[in-house]
Amino acid sequence: MPAEPRILITGAGGILGQRFTPLCNTNTFATYHHQPQNNTSLSENTAVGDLTDERFIGDLIKRVQPDVIVNLAALTNVERCETDAALAQRVNVGIVEKLLTLAPKARFVQISTDYVFDGAKGNYTPSDTPAPISLYGQTKRDAEIMVLQNSNNLVVRTSGTYDWLERHNLFTFFYNRLSTGKETLALAGCHYSPIWADDLAKGLLSLIKTEATGIIHYAGAERQTRYDFAKTIAKAFNFDESLIRPVMQEKFNWRARRPEDSSLDSSLGFAHAQYKPQSSSRTCSQYRKNMKR
Ligand SMILES: NC(=O)c1ccc[n+]([C@@H]2O[C@H](COP(=O)([O-])OP(=O)(O)OC[C@H]3O[C@@H](n4cnc5c(N)ncnc54)[C@H](OP(=O)(O)O)[C@@H]3O)[C@@H](O)[C@H]2O)c1
Repeated sequence: MPAEPRILITGAGGILGQRFTPLCNTNTFATYHHQPQNNTSLSENTAVGDLTDERFIGDLIKRVQPDVIVNLAALTNVERCETDAALAQRVNVGIVEKLLTLAPKARFVQISTDYVFDGAKGNYTPSDTPAPISLYGQTKRDAEIMVLQNSNNLVVRTSGTYDWLERHNLFTFFYNRLSTGKETLALAGCHYSPIWADDLAKGLLSLIKTEATGIIHYAGAERQTRYDFAKTIAKAFNFDESLIRPVMQEKFNWRARRPEDSSLDSSLGFAHAQYKPQSSSRTCSQYRKNMKR
């Protein structure tokens, strides 16, 4: 591996990509699916396009010749994956397969998900057996298997990623509703390990630098429900907590079933990265401070 490897980041405009891309060195090439919302002026080390387009992805690899590929591109909408299985397959599996084929010598870093588990146990470690119950989880698991065929590669599994930047996520959803006095339903009963995108980006970069391989869990240290998460936001910003209504998943009209407890045990990931994410209440306090500046 060269001293300053050439890194290709896909999905740079996503929740994680927005935080991860600016942390990387100048020898980095970032791809966006669509023009970034925040009107970031794109440098010559960027490209905008659809990675399922054979020509776009082929030209990209020829142009960049990456030493490391950090694949953040995915169809992350769990309902959309369930209703459009072909698209989920093309994006979550097809892109990975193509990148592995086009750049066989590059070290591949794949971000995966707590949804590869069925949720019967919770607090999952990397040695627990995946058993996805949704198409999103299944496509992500299929991609993991392909990536792990090369022992130099790394799969980092994470959980519900949130941030206050432009991109829609559970934090912006709850914050926008509660700050405008709107009642909000919040999923109760399904536990997960929410993580602030900025912490995930820092942990991920550290894991890549340590040349970790295999499967690593790197998610928030707290095991929460979305209902708990909404309450944390309400408390931190003095919003009316009675606006939050706990609802079990059976009441949502969802096609995809969510795991009852997909929380991850990330203790080994924190030790590898030598960096531990902060709690969601701490992130909220930080946001408050940022807003005052
Ligand atoms: N978000 C979570 O809660 C969560 C939890 C566990 C694991 N993960 C994993 O973390 C990784 C990063 O996701 P994220 O949290 O940053 O979610 P995200 O905001 O949905 O980011 C995914 C990115 O992939 C891009 N993309 C989708 N289809 C594409 C295509 N055909 N060509 C090129 N780019 C395409 C999206 O662009 P457009 O939006 O413009 O289409 C978006 O920028 C993913 O592997 C995801 O599975 C996420």
